[in-house]
Amino acid sequence: MKFRTCSFCLPVFLLFALSALVQAQTVLDGVYSKSQAQRGANHYNTICADCHEGGEPDALPLFGPDFVDRWREAPLSFLHDFISANMPADDAGNLPAASYLETVAFLLQENGFPVGNSNLAVDGLSEILLVGSNGPQPLPASALVKVIGCLQIAGDSVQLVQSSSLIRVRTADETTTEELAQAAAVPRTTGQYILLNTNKLAQETLLGQLVQAKGVLKVQTADTATINVLSLAGTGAPCE
Ligand code: HEC
Repeated sequence: MKFRTCSFCLPVFLLFALSALVQAQTVLDGVYSKSQAQRGANHYNTICADCHEGGEPDALPLFGPDFVDRWREAPLSFLHDFISANMPADDAGNLPAASYLETVAFLLQENGFPVGNSNLAVDGLSEILLVGSNGPQPLPASALVKVIGCLQIAGDSVQLVQSSSLIRVRTADETTTEELAQAAAVPRTTGQYILLNTNKLAQETLLGQLVQAKGVLKVQTADTATINVLSLAGTGAPCE
């Protein structure tokens, strides 16, 4: 059977439309307060700036389009949770919870996102989508992503169908048991992806199972998305 590109058009379009509906609020909507960002400026200047403004070669700048590209099209909790678990790198996770929120508010302000009237709160973070200044856009190529769906083989093409939308991740070369345990609860729609670099044996054992694929996003156009797979694992749950 030949793989037909156009069978992807409608599902992927629907996926974009749907994700726009589900995550209505974005960082363009004024999600932090001015005083919160001001307190965040203090934390940034006293704690983060030394490393992130040249002191540590691996600590990239936290302002500018490259920074936004590394975190956009994901809930704000993705950035916040990374910082609160891993930063400051020499004392990871040890700041008060409010300080992490304030620092995130400051990063939003410095990256040009509008100020609002109420404070950013931990509870709402997963409902706020971090987007660039143009609003929701396709993920940048080479973003690390995961998707959860049903494995299907069509000729030479390995696909994931009835999938979740693309979820950004920080590491794609391993799958944790925690992720697999949560995979079945991730909302799935009509998403379809082409998986490259999967090995034949893995494909066969995973057929008919709910599967999580992680890897590098190679191409995402209006009608298809291709993932170079680095880690592929079955959840054990069946896919009809
Ligand atoms: C002791 C040095 C040090 C301090 C202090 C520090 N960082 Fe980092 N930070 C690093 C290093 C090194 C990395 C790269 C390693 C990584 O990504 O895990 C990093 C990575 C990051 C990243 C991911 C970079 C990206 O965009 O891909 C963010 C965000 C971040 N730090 C925020 C902060 C914030 C906010 C603070 C202050 C609360 C802070 N860091 C304090 C060293 C530091």
